[in-house]
Amino acid sequence: TMFVNKKHFTSAIVGALVALSIIALVLSLVRIEDVTLPPTVKYGMVFDAGSSHTSLFVYEWDSDKENDTGVVSQNLSCDVQGQGISSYANDPAKAGDSLRECLNKAMKVVPAGKQRDVPAYLGATAGMRLLREQNSSAADQVLAEVTKTMQEYPVAFKGAQILTGEEEGAYGWITINYLLDSFTKYSPKAHMWVRPEAANIFGALDLGGASTQISFMPESSVMNWNETSKFTLYGYNYNIYTHSYLCYGQNEMLKRLAKELIAVRGELGVDHPCYPKDYNETISLSSFRTSPCTNQSDPRLILGDRNVTLEGRGNASGCLAAIKKLFNFSACGQRQDCTFDGVYQPPVRGQFIAFSAFYYNFKFLNLTKGQSLATVRETIEHFCTRSWENVRSPQWKRLPKYCANANYILTLLLDAYKFNETSWNNIFFRMKAGSADVGWTLGYMLNLTNMIPAEPPTRVKGHVPSLWAAAITFIILTLALGFAALLLLLWV
Ligand SMILES: *[C@@H]1O[C@H](CO)[C@@H](O)[C@H](O)[C@H]1NC(C)=O
Ligand SMILES: *[C@@H]1O[C@H](CO)[C@@H](O)[C@H](O)[C@H]1NC(C)=O
Ligand SMILES: *[C@@H]1O[C@H](CO)[C@@H](O)[C@H](O)[C@H]1NC(C)=O
Ligand SMILES: *[C@@H]1O[C@H](CO)[C@@H](O)[C@H](O)[C@H]1NC(C)=O
Ligand SMILES: *[C@@H]1O[C@H](CO)[C@@H](O)[C@H](O)[C@H]1NC(C)=O
Ligand SMILES: *[C@@H]1O[C@H](CO)[C@@H](O)[C@H](O)[C@H]1NC(C)=O
Ligand SMILES: *[C@@H]1O[C@H](CO)[C@@H](O)[C@H](O)[C@H]1NC(C)=O
Ligand SMILES: *[C@@H]1O[C@H](CO)[C@@H](O)[C@H](O)[C@H]1NC(C)=O
Repeated sequence: TMFVNKKHFTSAIVGALVALSIIALVLSLVRIEDVTLPPTVKYGMVFDAGSSHTSLFVYEWDSDKENDTGVVSQNLSCDVQGQGISSYANDPAKAGDSLRECLNKAMKVVPAGKQRDVPAYLGATAGMRLLREQNSSAADQVLAEVTKTMQEYPVAFKGAQILTGEEEGAYGWITINYLLDSFTKYSPKAHMWVRPEAANIFGALDLGGASTQISFMPESSVMNWNETSKFTLYGYNYNIYTHSYLCYGQNEMLKRLAKELIAVRGELGVDHPCYPKDYNETISLSSFRTSPCTNQSDPRLILGDRNVTLEGRGNASGCLAAIKKLFNFSACGQRQDCTFDGVYQPPVRGQFIAFSAFYYNFKFLNLTKGQSLATVRETIEHFCTRSWENVRSPQWKRLPKYCANANYILTLLLDAYKFNETSWNNIFFRMKAGSADVGWTLGYMLNLTNMIPAEPPTRVKGHVPSLWAAAITFIILTLALGFAALLLLLWV
């Protein structure tokens, strides 16, 4: 009876061990299955309401990776027809209507079942900042109308607001470094997340129609702490210098340039050194009154309704000289940590991505291939003095502006921001990074949806260390139990 009992006892133990090992195996498979379940796709949309035009961006990402860097991609970009929303100050309902075409397009790319979960934002920049300065109730009405339109669509509308210049700069900086994956670095050797090297963090240079922004991570020893913003992203602190210059976007700059040239001469016909020979532009002095950048009274000029003809002279050196007069460099004295108008800026550091109008102007001039500063200067000078036979035909509409824009960009980067022959080579003129357009919109959405955690990521892209470790533990346990059962059987 002892033998029978012992045999029954061991069979029971073997049975239990086999059952346990089967359970363990099933559990480990289930956990692996968890990780490989198809993720669901999420969407978000942001309108970039700039001073001269509005664009809509639709982004998408896998829900199970949303806290990782670089996983959001751009599904759609749509250019709104017509002018920027601030141009509808006298007819605000039209600002709302202008958005419909792009909203309809977006509804076609987001599956109907997911539309109600799509966070939808509208961010307005310098054009609306200027309108608010000039007529704040008109600015409020425009925002109310675009809100009304967006609320008619079955999306999760989260607000229409005017960004500050510093927010615009910071979100551009976040967008670039998110897309270029520079925030998080996992060291497989050390099995840990390591602080990204400062040299791998990119600065951001943004040029719009009404303002321009510079954002970068300065050397901490030269930092003026009052002028930096502090962010905690993926477990690390970043102290970012960012400054936005209102009225230094390219369109406001061109208007200020025209006003200055007219004020100096005070005549009805005025030479414009930046416009091509054989090109005339008629401008009404009343147009200067529509923007706070040009509506200040000037003792040399009465802003009546007079029309003035600007006559192109195609004078490269004259153009550069006239543009430099738009900056007050003397307000900085001998200070090196100063751009113009007495604005503080630490020395530029590291690599920069120059996007929006920096890119478009240089692209037109074929200057986005990393040419040396000497080549860039020569190309611009040659372009400015070139004569254009078809300058008045409609497809050349923007051509007369490129000389002024290019010289403006050079002055801003070299004389104001103080890039030199060496650091010039650290500026990359880009429109896209990976699949997405570079701008402030992605960084804005990431921040407002809390998709950039303050803590380091919990997983390496593609697989999850903790779950894999658990699965492997289970498998080893299964094998050990099976082996023990086998030994017991043999022993009996
Ligand atoms: C992302 O992070 C937030 C807050 O840190 C957390 O609540 C959420 O579960 C995370 N999502 C994923 C998919 O890891
Ligand atoms: C430009 O205007 C000037 C004077 O107003 C005139 O003499 C000249 O012919 C015009 N040039 C062109 C190309 O229209
Ligand atoms: C200025 O020119 C516009 C069209 O170019 C014309 O309608 C307007 O009457 C002119 N203004 C004056 C004061 O001459
Ligand atoms: C170009 O402009 C500069 C500065 O205004 C002037 O000194 C020079 O004479 C101009 N050159 C030509 C060819 O008009
Ligand atoms: C430049 O700035 C200085 C100091 O703020 C000021 O005195 C000077 O008038 C400014 N110059 C111009 C042309 O505005
Ligand atoms: C260029 O500027 C950088 C700092 O922005 C500085 O370290 C470097 O010495 C400068 N180079 C030259 C040639 O002036
Ligand atoms: C840029 O390059 C293209 C192709 O090489 C050429 O057709 C175009 O004229 C160039 N643009 C300028 C402004 O030189
Ligand atoms: C992002 O949002 C948080 C609040 O969630 C805010 O404290 C932070 O300043 C924002 N970041 C930027 C760059 O504005």
